Amino acid sequence: MKFNIAVLPGDGVGPEVIGEAQRVLDSVGRRFGHTFDYRQGLIGGISIDKHGQAVIAETLEMCRKSDAVMLGAVGGPRWDDPQARVRPEDGLLAARKELKLFANIRPVKMFPALVDATSLKPDIVRNVDMVVVRELTGGLYFGKPKKRWSTSRGRRAVDTMAYNEKEIERILRVGFELAMTRRRKLTSVDKANVLESSRLWRQIAAEMASEYPQVKTDNMLVDACSMRLIQNPGYFDVIVTENTFGDILTDEASMLAGSMGMLPSASMAGIPGGKKGKAFGLYEPIHGSAPDIAGMNFANPIATILSVAMMLHYSLGLGREADAVEQAVLQVLDEGYRTQDIMSQGMKRVGTSEMGKLIEERVKG
Ligand code: IPM
Ligand code: MG
Repeated sequence: MKFNIAVLPGDGVGPEVIGEAQRVLDSVGRRFGHTFDYRQGLIGGISIDKHGQAVIAETLEMCRKSDAVMLGAVGGPRWDDPQARVRPEDGLLAARKELKLFANIRPVKMFPALVDATSLKPDIVRNVDMVVVRELTGGLYFGKPKKRWSTSRGRRAVDTMAYNEKEIERILRVGFELAMTRRRKLTSVDKANVLESSRLWRQIAAEMASEYPQVKTDNMLVDACSMRLIQNPGYFDVIVTENTFGDILTDEASMLAGSMGMLPSASMAGIPGGKKGKAFGLYEPIHGSAPDIAGMNFANPIATILSVAMMLHYSLGLGREADAVEQAVLQVLDEGYRTQDIMSQGMKRVGTSEMGKLIEERVKG
């Protein structure tokens, strides 16, 4: 089969890790007889430099016309001025909103080979296998009013956490459906003891729980959840939560898997594996642009390569191909190859492109 893939490498280490992910995807194509046609676009700082905007309408249109989008990372110190009119992150937020990518799926899984790479006790992290479903186009990130202004008593700023019932229902549904394919446990995370939007969220979660009697559902306050994540992460199967809460919890959860450099993500416009079997999505590592190591062949490309596996599965409907990529990653780790972020004693240290090539070779079989 032939697929059109939009590729937005972005800033910092983005182009390096995307390059390795394309290398792996090409080897999937050769082995399984598919063609992946890439269309490159700019996003983030590099787009600001060229167009004065963090992403332009033509680029988003190109994404819309593709089967899926691969994204590297955005941002860097050059564009970090808090006074700046436009920021690299605006490109990512615009892409999420414009492409209607309301469901961000972030699996956090301990790779047995990396148990010693985490800062937590091996016994705590050994059984970590959860998915965080983060609402991505609403909540505190997008609620209105959102502005900064001057008053006679000084400067003020406001952000708004707002949700309507439809937005809450569709994200919870992604969580419930995902739970049905896993261990059938769903934890809905909110701040219902303080926030009105969370109380609506919790009420809708309770209503929907009766549609999914097979799923064991509970609610947790976000502060308690952040504690439970490091105290007993094995407790969680699927977590579903508001945009900002999900942003914070997933950085925390990433530490359970050894390194941010290991964690993929999918931002979906529909339910993955739903009725049609596939849905449009944007795939990116959860890590940022890491400007301090950009261009040094240091970055771990595995998060981006695993994002490609999610893309094969969720947007292209190619489950076998996705498994081949995941297996190749496991194999390379079992053989002892490590980028610097997951390096430990006795292992073989490799750079970004060596890691990509090793995985490519294992995919070839
Ligand atoms: C993430 C990132 C983004 C976010 C930034 C880069 C805007 O932290 O994807 O988690 O806050 O959503
Ligand atoms: Mg984040």
